Amino acid sequence: MNSTMRAIQVLAKGEPMRLVEIPIPQPGEGQVLISVEACGICHGDSKVIEGWASEYPRIPGHEVVGTIVKLGNNVSKWSVGQRVGIGWHGGHGHTTALSIDGGYAEYMVAYEDGLILIPEGITSEEVAPLLCAGETVFSALHNSRARMGDFVAVSGIGGLGHLAVQYARKAGFRVAAISRGEEKRELALALGAHIYIDSEKENVQEALQAHGGAKVIIATAPSSKVISSLIGGLGRDGELIIAAVSDEPLNWSAMDFLKGPNAVKGTFTDINEMEAAVRFSILTDVRPMIEVFPLEQAKEAYEKMMNAKTHFRAVLKIKD
Ligand SMILES: NC(=O)c1ccc[n+]([C@@H]2O[C@H](COP(=O)([O-])OP(=O)(O)OC[C@H]3O[C@@H](n4cnc5c(N)ncnc54)[C@H](OP(=O)(O)O)[C@@H]3O)[C@@H](O)[C@H]2O)c1
Ligand SMILES: [Zn+2]
Repeated sequence: MNSTMRAIQVLAKGEPMRLVEIPIPQPGEGQVLISVEACGICHGDSKVIEGWASEYPRIPGHEVVGTIVKLGNNVSKWSVGQRVGIGWHGGHGHTTALSIDGGYAEYMVAYEDGLILIPEGITSEEVAPLLCAGETVFSALHNSRARMGDFVAVSGIGGLGHLAVQYARKAGFRVAAISRGEEKRELALALGAHIYIDSEKENVQEALQAHGGAKVIIATAPSSKVISSLIGGLGRDGELIIAAVSDEPLNWSAMDFLKGPNAVKGTFTDINEMEAAVRFSILTDVRPMIEVFPLEQAKEAYEKMMNAKTHFRAVLKIKD
């Protein structure tokens, strides 16, 4: 093994990502060293640039897949050679890529309680986006009020939404995909949606009510206006689940809640259902649609993702 590695760092708040050559980190107590194979690019990576990291320079990336190549002291759960994944929760109370370095690098040190085992049957590039994007919408659905046969809608067909549509279909729901324009109609139906609602042509609330009102709506489009409007599409005892990040206030009246009566809640990526999300994806053939980039192009890939130009998830392929 070389003593140095290639990595992408954000040197300080507001700085762009840079390719650097730095010493390979060594695992400490309760930590392992991972040879990174793939790392997904997520909107959450913007937080490092926005100044949320505990210190700089910091390596972004919280959808990390790789093989354990070295154990620190007192590691009880893992052995060298296992393929593992790390999401937003880095273990030991850490946040990956904010309070510890992330996976835009050839190697990454991780706490043993931040890892999940990745089974065979899926490539590392395909599994990476499941560790945040996939897990977020999988657990949102899994912990929702919807039961098999219910009507579920997904708002926004991007990185999270294209996985949510597939999970919802495979889990046995009647599925509506809500997107802007006709462009994604064919794709949404191919992903498993029964119904396509073009928000530029149709009133989304009326379209959902025409189908009986949704039991659950997963909001992945990062617009407070869009999120606020969705509540009117819920049916009896409906639930609006907010996955998208949006800073603007939401706009509801008491009647919006009383009508169903409806509930609104947020969902946040969590390690608890990461293994289940990966297992479900393998069992039901759910795969993310990905665009693969080499580590050197992390900045370009990140910018493409931030402009919602990626179909639908960008992944850095770091090693075969
Ligand atoms: N809760 C969590 O734990 C968690 C985890 C990961 C990501 N997120 C958040 O989830 C959101 C979606 O992430 P993503 O990776 O799916 O993003 P993405 O790939 O950019 O997709 C978002 C989709 O939302 C729609 N959209 C975007 N801007 C819009 C606007 N101004 N008005 C209406 N629709 C808009 C677009 O879909 P259409 O073209 O189909 O309308 C777009 O494809 C982000 O805010 C991200 O930060 C949250
Ligand atoms: Zn993420």
